[in-house]
Amino acid sequence: MSRPQLRRWGLVSSPPRGVPGLALLALLALRLAAGTDCPCPEPELCRPIRHHPDFEVFVFDVGQKTWKSYDWSQITTVATFGKYDSELMCYAHSKGARVVLKGDVSLKDIIDPAFRASWIAQKLNLAKTQYMDGINIDIEQEVNCLSPEYDALTALVKETTDSFHREIEGSQVTFDVAWSPKNIDRRCYNYTGIADACDFLFVMSYDEQSQIWSECIAAANAPYNQTLTGYNDYIKMSINPKKLVMGVPWYGYDYTCLNLSEDHVCTIAKVPFRGAPCSDAAGRQVPYKTIMKQINSSISGNLWDKDQQAPYYNYKDPAGHFHQVWYDNPQSISLKATYIQNYGLRGIGMWNANCLDYSGDAVAKQQTEEMWEVLKPKLLQR
Ligand SMILES: *[C@@H]1O[C@H](CO)[C@@H](O)[C@H](O)[C@H]1NC(C)=O
Ligand SMILES: *[C@@H]1O[C@H](CO)[C@@H](O)[C@H](O)[C@H]1NC(C)=O
Ligand SMILES: *[C@@H]1O[C@H](CO)[C@@H](O)[C@H](O)[C@H]1NC(C)=O
Ligand SMILES: *[C@@H]1O[C@H](CO)[C@@H](O)[C@H](O)[C@H]1NC(C)=O
Repeated sequence: MSRPQLRRWGLVSSPPRGVPGLALLALLALRLAAGTDCPCPEPELCRPIRHHPDFEVFVFDVGQKTWKSYDWSQITTVATFGKYDSELMCYAHSKGARVVLKGDVSLKDIIDPAFRASWIAQKLNLAKTQYMDGINIDIEQEVNCLSPEYDALTALVKETTDSFHREIEGSQVTFDVAWSPKNIDRRCYNYTGIADACDFLFVMSYDEQSQIWSECIAAANAPYNQTLTGYNDYIKMSINPKKLVMGVPWYGYDYTCLNLSEDHVCTIAKVPFRGAPCSDAAGRQVPYKTIMKQINSSISGNLWDKDQQAPYYNYKDPAGHFHQVWYDNPQSISLKATYIQNYGLRGIGMWNANCLDYSGDAVAKQQTEEMWEVLKPKLLQR
């Protein structure tokens, strides 16, 4: 692996007056020895994080500067799915939090071991030049159980973990899986093999209506029972709960109702997905901050579904169509956080941290704080 180029070469070629050439060379040698030109105010902030927290708070960030308002007393890992931001990297490191790359690759390519090796080398090089602490592998593609991709995917995860652990001390390699291991969205993966091969799985306990096999009606993004069924299934296949981080949604779904009954049953359009007759693709994803702004102008006010343990409301759009919005709030998330504690999962995380209102408005600020506060099971809070 070649060393990164010194980007600030200009600084070296025009030394301040009076600095002897030898001192300059020594300075250059030091920088080269450190392998870097670290963009942080303190060079030690470019070092990878080595500490392994007891409880993970794994945050996805999709860009811009909202991260400045996150609750950094809780965050242990930030998966950066937006543009690289060295300021975010430096800041996270100053708070002892890891920053990890996004890993996404076309599965038909990874059957070739040489392709895997070069993909991993490229990601590792990127992680080193950007002072990142690992990678979150996010493959959401279909895999047939009998296809060569099935074993190639497990191999990719294993080889990525081996390389990262070897080359970046303390680094973390994680893999995103669907809410249940039962071939959701036709993803037949070797879940136990992948869990063994990486540090932990991030379970995307949301989009749980991606395949609706029963009635085509609007339902919760992450119903409590359905979410727990997924974890029970992962644990039943003898995946250690400490290998599972629960992902919770900081967004909801807005469905246009073909018909809204008096008892709040919202019939939705049939939009098939990967073999299922209808799907949450009939709805539109909305961030929590938008939901919180809309709720007071709803026709129903905030409602709570006892079976799914989730909040929802109905509203009428300017064209006169009824909508039903399902989402997660501190009440529904705290129930899941309690499960995490009782079953000894590795931690919690959210897609995505940018979804809250960080404008500083007094009402929004309170709502945003409450969302962060419920992440940690009470016993773990000081
Ligand atoms: C899953 O992967 C592991 C490790 O490669 C392997 O030992 C195991 O046989 C695989 N399981 C299945 C069901 O393919
Ligand atoms: C639509 O909703 C109305 C009002 O609740 C109800 O009377 C009617 O039966 C519903 N129609 C269908 C097709 O579900
Ligand atoms: C919505 O209404 C509640 C209760 O009346 C109020 O406390 C809250 O400030 C309102 N939210 C917004 C965004 O106006
Ligand atoms: C959820 O699970 C509880 C406990 O097993 C059960 O009593 C309840 O009926 C379930 N709700 C649904 C909607 O399945």
